[in-house]
Order: sequence, then C-alpha cells, then structure tokens
Amino acid sequence: MINDITSILEKAIKLHSLNEREILYLLKTEKNDKLFSAADKIREEYVGDEVHLRALIEFSNYCKQNCLYCGIRKDNTKIIRYRLVPQEIINLAKKAANYGYKTIVLQSGEDLYYTVDIISKMIFEIKKFDVAVTLSIGEKTFEEYKAYRKAGADRYLLRIETTDEMLYDRLDPCMSLKNRMNCLEDIKKLGYEVGSGIMVGLPGQTLESIAKDIVYLKSIPVDMAGIGPFIYHPGTPIEKSECNSFDLALKVMAILRLLMPDINIPATTAMETLNPNGRLIALQCGANVVMPNATETQYRRHYEIYPGKICPGDSPGHCRFCIENKIKSINRYAAKNKGYRRIIN
Ligand code: SAM
Ligand code: FES
Repeated sequence: MINDITSILEKAIKLHSLNEREILYLLKTEKNDKLFSAADKIREEYVGDEVHLRALIEFSNYCKQNCLYCGIRKDNTKIIRYRLVPQEIINLAKKAANYGYKTIVLQSGEDLYYTVDIISKMIFEIKKFDVAVTLSIGEKTFEEYKAYRKAGADRYLLRIETTDEMLYDRLDPCMSLKNRMNCLEDIKKLGYEVGSGIMVGLPGQTLESIAKDIVYLKSIPVDMAGIGPFIYHPGTPIEKSECNSFDLALKVMAILRLLMPDINIPATTAMETLNPNGRLIALQCGANVVMPNATETQYRRHYEIYPGKICPGDSPGHCRFCIENKIKSINRYAAKNKGYRRIIN
C-alpha cells in the first residue's frame, strides 16, 4: 500500500486504478492542488479541450418519491407544481437544437402522468432534430427502459446517490439501493450510455463510503459521472450538514477523472450554486461537460431541488451564450458534436 500523495497520483496516472484505501487517502488529502492539476492534465490528454453542452429541460416537478434531501419530494407542499405538455417539451427541444445544442436532457421527478407512450413519442419527435437524447426521469422497469431506447434515447442518467445501504435506506424511503443498482444494470444491458453519480456532503455520509461509491461507479463502468454537492433545502426533513461539500465534490470528480480518464464528467450546476465560478473551477479539475438550463424562465424557479439554483430569471438563449463565453474565458471551446464517450484503451 502506497501512502504518499505523489506515489498515489503517479499510480493513478499510469494505471487508472487505485484501491479503496488509496482513494480514501486522496479524499482526505489537503494537497488538493496536486490532485486537481493531475486530473486536469488527464482530462486534456484523453478528452481534450472541447466542452460538451447538454441542454437541460426540466419538464415536470411532480414526483411520487419522497427522497429526504430533495426539494421536489412528494410531501413538500410548499412548492408550486408544474408539468409541461409533450408539444411544449418538443418545442423547447427544437429551440435548444436551434441554439446549437447537440444533446437534449429530459429531466423530471417521477411523474406518472407521462406514460411510456407519451415519453416514447416525445423521444421520437426530438430525435428528428439531429440531437442525442438523455433521459433523467428516475426508476423504471426493464420494459420501460427498453421502449425508450427503441424510441431513440441514447443515454440515461440515474445517480446512485450513495452506495451506503443504511444511508440510502434512511434518505430514500420506499426505495432500495438494490433496485437502483438493478436499474443501472438494465440501462447498461440495453445499450444506453450510462450516466450515474453521487451526492457528496450528505448528513451521515462518510469518506469511506464515498471511496466505495467511486469504486462502484468504475465497476459499472459508467460513461458519465455527475458529482453533485448536497445543498440543504429548508422544505425537507433532512438535517443540515457541516461538510464543505463544494471542495469534496471537486475532489471526488478529480479522482474519477484519474480512474476513468475517457468518461464524460459534468461541471454540475449545484457546484455553481455554492461558488459563483463553480463550473469553471470544475472544468479545470477534470470536468468536460456543462448542462445549461434550457427550461423556460417561468418554470425554472419551481424546479427547486435545492435553494439558490443559478440563473432563475434567465432565458434558454441567455444561458446558451453566457456559458459559451465563460468557456472561452478559460481557453476551452464548446464542442459541435454529440459528445458520446470515446472509449480509449
Ligand atoms: N427523478 C430523477 C432521478 O431521481 O434520477 C431526476 C431528478 S432528481 C431531482 C436529479 C438529482 O438531483 C438527483 O439524482 C440528486 O442527486 C439531485 N438532488 C436532489 N436533491 C438535492 C439537493 N438537496 N442537493 C443537491 N442535489 C440534489
Ligand atoms: Fe423525486 Fe427528488 S424526490 S426527484
């Protein structure tokens, strides 16, 4: 077992493999700069300077689930619920495609209004705009995932959130870690690009469990890993957490870049909520994807999974051009392709 930062980073850069104890060492290190600059170099070498933009359409904030941390959980009666009709969603996707986005991400709570038929037809229509389609609509059956894939969906995003079973059971009542893992297996089997990830800084979460999460994400293996800092929402029953979830999320992201050098890693919106330059910082610590909001202004503030979400009063067009300028300011550029993972052996 090697236990100094230089040797661990050298091993990670050379072999893209670390054991749990070495990962834990990196999670605990205070020498963040070394970790971040190693991840940035690997990012440059494997996925280059292009940044993939994924247009995020938050089409419904109804949810049948009650995740303790989530502002749009079923029992939160203090938010205004909305759902867009399919044609509105298709129109938004078309608008996003016209802004040059090559991926549309359809995200919502687990809303039973949208039947398999409705979602499948939407995917089919949106695929006509020459874009990749990512779904982020929660846990479904194998048959449902199969129908969406058949309709043309390219990627599925389902964060495992945490692999600590006790923590999972406490935070996600009426759900199970086992089922979530099964869903990810189904998604993989059906040939989707698999997106997963975790939240960091959850109350009760340990660094040891985060090290296990990282090993799990590599074992799937994911094609995309989104690491979101947990942000306390006062309308939820969860307690606050003392952890600096921004720094920790950056570290987890950087370690994933070292271990899975060719995957797509977003600079998450939650990072920018905690730090005004959060996404640009993340892009320089291993990330190569940004998911700008393409939801119309009047709905944005109601998709309040956590408070303080960025750009609440902005339009899809504003966000598209703002992010491109930000990316240019760090000498990177917005990609013009669909941004599938290019597996490098
Ligand atoms: N229903 C879909 C699902 O479960 O995958 C997608 C919507 S869900 C709101 C998207 C992600 O938001 C979750 O996977 C979770 O990681 C994140 N999230 C929820 N509450 C959060 C909070 N308080 N702070 C940070 N991220 C949060
Ligand atoms: Fe369903 Fe958060 S509880 S999206």
